[in-house]
Amino acid sequence: MSTSSKENTYEIFEDIKKNLNRGVKDRSHGYHTPIFSNIDKENSIDSRIVVLRKFDPKKMVLNFHTDFRSPKVHNLKKNNKSLFVFYDQKLKIQLRIKTSSTINNQNNICKDMWENTKLYSRKCYLTLKSPSSITNQPEDGIHESLKGKEPTKKESEKGYKNFTVIENHIMLIDWLYLSASGHRRLIISFKDINPIFDWVIP
Ligand SMILES: Cc1cc2nc3c(=O)[nH]c(=O)nc-3n(C[C@H](O)[C@H](O)[C@H](O)COP(=O)(O)O)c2cc1C
Repeated sequence: MSTSSKENTYEIFEDIKKNLNRGVKDRSHGYHTPIFSNIDKENSIDSRIVVLRKFDPKKMVLNFHTDFRSPKVHNLKKNNKSLFVFYDQKLKIQLRIKTSSTINNQNNICKDMWENTKLYSRKCYLTLKSPSSITNQPEDGIHESLKGKEPTKKESEKGYKNFTVIENHIMLIDWLYLSASGHRRLIISFKDINPIFDWVIP
């Protein structure tokens, strides 16, 4: 995208969608590991890095995977307001995306994604105790028998009940482009599925 096209709102919107898609597929893309924030049980903000697993440009939904037993799932059940922050150093573009989150567990959405999840990644869902629970020694929580190796497909199936797909419906995108020739910032909100563009001072 040339500098002048960074002043064309529709091109910017198309470029955002293209790069979110790249972020899913390309592990080295800055958008592959965004920061995801939500409200915790003390009503304060909690943030962490997640892996962007899917972007649906028609529905404008971002997905990541997590463990059903994790505190963020519990907290999202109470308050589904959430926020992603993306940055890619080469693009020099920050995206702050406000979302509302939906939790999927043991349904068709999870079934499809689980089938495409590699054994190594399935292992994350096999911890004996819940993520974030206190332990009296440094450990990953996985059974000794799986130390340093992948589970078999059969062993991995125990993790399915914990495997959770968080779908995040995009409400607003705050696009920021940093450039020596002049920073640019665009807010994209949505009326139904149609984007509404507002330039703002960076
Ligand atoms: C590179 C990277 C990728 C991560 N991806 C995920 C992810 O996709 N899902 C997830 O639940 N946690 C992921 N984590 C771990 C989280 O950042 C966090 O530590 C964990 O989910 C516990 O968060 P919680 O206590 O708020 O639930 C990732 C961490 C790193 C460093």
